[in-house]
Amino acid sequence: MKKITMAVLGFGQRGIVFSNVAKDYSNEVELVAVCEQNTNKHQWIKENYQLSSESIYGDFNHFMNQGKLADILVISTMDQDHYIHAMKALEVGYDILLEKPIALSKKEIFEIKNKANQLNRKIAVAHVLRYTHFYKEIKRLIDEGVLGSIATLHQTENVGYLHYAHSFVRGNWHNSNTSSPMILAKSCHDIDIIRYLVGKRVEAISSFGNLHYFKKENMPSGAASHCIDCKVDCPFNAIKFYEENPSWMAFFSLEKDAKKVLSDKTLNYGRCVYDMDNNVVDHQVLNMQFEDGSSASFTMTAFSYTTHRRIEIKGTKAELVGDLEDNLITVMPYGKAPFKIDIKNLTTDFSYHSGGDKNLLIDFVRAVRDNTPFLTDINYSVESHYLAFDAETSRLHKGLVIDTSKSWSDYER
Ligand SMILES: NC(=O)c1ccc[n+]([C@@H]2O[C@H](COP(=O)([O-])OP(=O)(O)OC[C@H]3O[C@@H](n4cnc5c(N)ncnc54)[C@H](O)[C@@H]3O)[C@@H](O)[C@H]2O)c1
Repeated sequence: MKKITMAVLGFGQRGIVFSNVAKDYSNEVELVAVCEQNTNKHQWIKENYQLSSESIYGDFNHFMNQGKLADILVISTMDQDHYIHAMKALEVGYDILLEKPIALSKKEIFEIKNKANQLNRKIAVAHVLRYTHFYKEIKRLIDEGVLGSIATLHQTENVGYLHYAHSFVRGNWHNSNTSSPMILAKSCHDIDIIRYLVGKRVEAISSFGNLHYFKKENMPSGAASHCIDCKVDCPFNAIKFYEENPSWMAFFSLEKDAKKVLSDKTLNYGRCVYDMDNNVVDHQVLNMQFEDGSSASFTMTAFSYTTHRRIEIKGTKAELVGDLEDNLITVMPYGKAPFKIDIKNLTTDFSYHSGGDKNLLIDFVRAVRDNTPFLTDINYSVESHYLAFDAETSRLHKGLVIDTSKSWSDYER
């Protein structure tokens, strides 16, 4: 069996996850090169991933000028760089595992997809939900006809108040001008999984949402602009959060002392959640109508105690409810006794996004090795992204109903 070699561009949270997964499957895939612009990380990468200094690059152009260094390239840089990085990597000859979002406009996404097809290269988009044990089981139930035909589906993405504050008020995705709108950055996963489960094309879409709470007018009186100086009893206190959750602080600092790290006032992670330059929505709803007349709705909310996704599917033969984080599915067939499927009885490995990251990387590795199809081919994944742009257009126009076939007329469906 040929071992697939892998390079990683952008060795942050996601690059590290895929490199760790590669270690778990070392008989099938091997990390052979890294390009990471933060050279402070290089020694750590070298020690932890058994790479020579010559295999670790600090500059994208220098890295690409080496030509193709591996069979596949994981692109896990920030959203706004995906277009340039993916287009160049295709030219150099890589098959790509590309982090979502694919890129930041329909045009860029269309160009990446077309170039991949012209050059006969594979691109897997990191829509990891398709690969989780939980959604795989739901897909199996649908495909086997247990639910009958789907009439309507609802999914809620409970982002969690602390995760939201970390990533979407203070973190990388807090401002759509420097990253992307929430419906693309976070919820393209949900649009993709809804579309995948229903298995029909979306004909029309409409959306509402706004930034309801994390803004200046809700700043408690007496609050300071940095948590380190603040005396207000607040659920979003950054010092308390990062002291209790050191793994979240590891995303932006190698230092362990939260007070010391957050004394640095140039860092957004220590700032008051009501006094940031954030603009992304903290709640959004989406309605979709499919080509067969079935419908789906989706809610994303910052306002939840924990981070979890819930799904309800109403079919003509049975109703299904499930919670991804509980890994529990209940099926209620009409006229028969309900039954539960506890995913924990089917597998014990829920590492890396409920098993999604692992299954994604290994499926792609095998697809490249054996030239076989894989679940998150860019040719399907573009659809969730186009829908996300339509949803954002609708939201910005007070829920205007968008006919998706018209809005995509410049792009193939
Ligand atoms: N699929 C998912 O579920 C999921 C989850 C989280 C994040 N993401 C996506 O993954 C991507 C990366 O997110 P992350 O959380 O790992 O971010 P991160 O900030 O932790 O990592 C990005 C890394 O890329 C490096 N980098 C940036 N530009 C570079 C360049 N030109 N050359 C070399 N290195 C460069 C940065 O220094 C950093 O180490 C984002 O697009 C994000 O939206 C996807």
